[in-house]
Order: sequence, then structure tokens, then C-alpha cells
Amino acid sequence: MSRVIIYKSKAGHTERYARMLSKELNIPYYSSKDAKVSENDEIIFLSHIYASKIMGLSKTLNKYNVKVVIGVGAMPYSRDYLNTLKDANNIKLPFFYLRGGIDYSKLNFFFRKFLPIIGKDIAKDDKELLRLFKNGGNFVTKDNLKEIVNYLK
Ligand SMILES: Cc1cc2nc3c(=O)[nH]c(=O)nc-3n(C[C@H](O)[C@H](O)[C@H](O)COP(=O)(O)O)c2cc1C
Repeated sequence: MSRVIIYKSKAGHTERYARMLSKELNIPYYSSKDAKVSENDEIIFLSHIYASKIMGLSKTLNKYNVKVVIGVGAMPYSRDYLNTLKDANNIKLPFFYLRGGIDYSKLNFFFRKFLPIIGKDIAKDDKELLRLFKNGGNFVTKDNLKEIVNYLK
């Protein structure tokens, strides 16, 4: 039995975290589309968040022996937000949240149009969030992984 990372990423932020985590823990990482996994492998699942949903979570839980779930979103990290996501996705496993970012060049036409509009609503008076939804931004750092690496090492 060994540990394997499976990730699902649209614009690349989650993939970057999966790659960094794989290096830190010295275990393989695969996209959910081409995962090479044995029956007993313990899975660390990372996926991006759209409208509070961790994409592909139920499918992955049904298919694999998932031990840890990691959601990647654009919102700033907070305990409150982590708990909101845990509830919204009905997660009973150890759960972590990482801040990814928004890369408009990697989103399709619909989301390029749609996200700045809903972003304004979400950001309200928060200047940093307003800037993020207007211009995009990248918050992926190795430092953000510290808590997860400590937990898994
Ligand atoms: C349609 C849409 C909905 C989103 N909803 C959320 C959300 O509810 N919470 C959040 O933190 N981020 C949200 N995001 C931001 C993404 O989760 C963020 O860009 C993440 O880093 C994407 O990961 P990826 O680059 O691996 O695809 C949303 C993005 C899009 C395009």
C-alpha cells in the first residue's frame, strides 16, 4: 500500500500544488483523468472549487480510497471559510483549504465574462478581492503547504 496524489485542475493552480506536494512527500501525482492507482493505495485528493463545490469529489470518493481532501479556491484562507466548504461538501475526512488564484487567460469565454461580474458581488468593499476578480492573481506558494506537509509527514 502506498500514498498517491490525484488532482483535478482547470487553470493550473491545483496542479502546481499537487506537483509541489508530490515533491515534498516523495509520492507520485496524477491528474484524475489518467490516475495510475492500485486498489489499496491511499489517495490524497486535490481539486479546484467552483461555487463552493469541490469539483469531482463524490466521483473520486466512490472510486478510490481517499484519506485526505484538499480544496483549492480563490478566496483568502480562513478557518471560517474552511468550515463553510467542509459543510457545503459534506466532508467527513481530514480537509484542508489552499488559496490558488484566478488566471483569466486559462478560462473559457463564459467564465471570463461571468466571473468578474459575480466577483464584484462577492468582493463587496474588499479592495484586494475586487482587484483579484478584475485582473486575476496568483497566490500559490510552497509556504501554504506547510500545514498539510506537517500533517502528512
Ligand atoms: C465559475 C467559477 C466559480 C468559482 N467559485 C469559487 C468559490 O466558490 N470559492 C473559491 O474560493 N474560489 C472559486 N473560484 C476560483 C477557483 O476555485 C480558483 O480559480 C482556483 O484556483 C482554480 O483552480 P485551478 O487553477 O486548479 O483550476 C471559482 C472560479 C470559477 C471560474
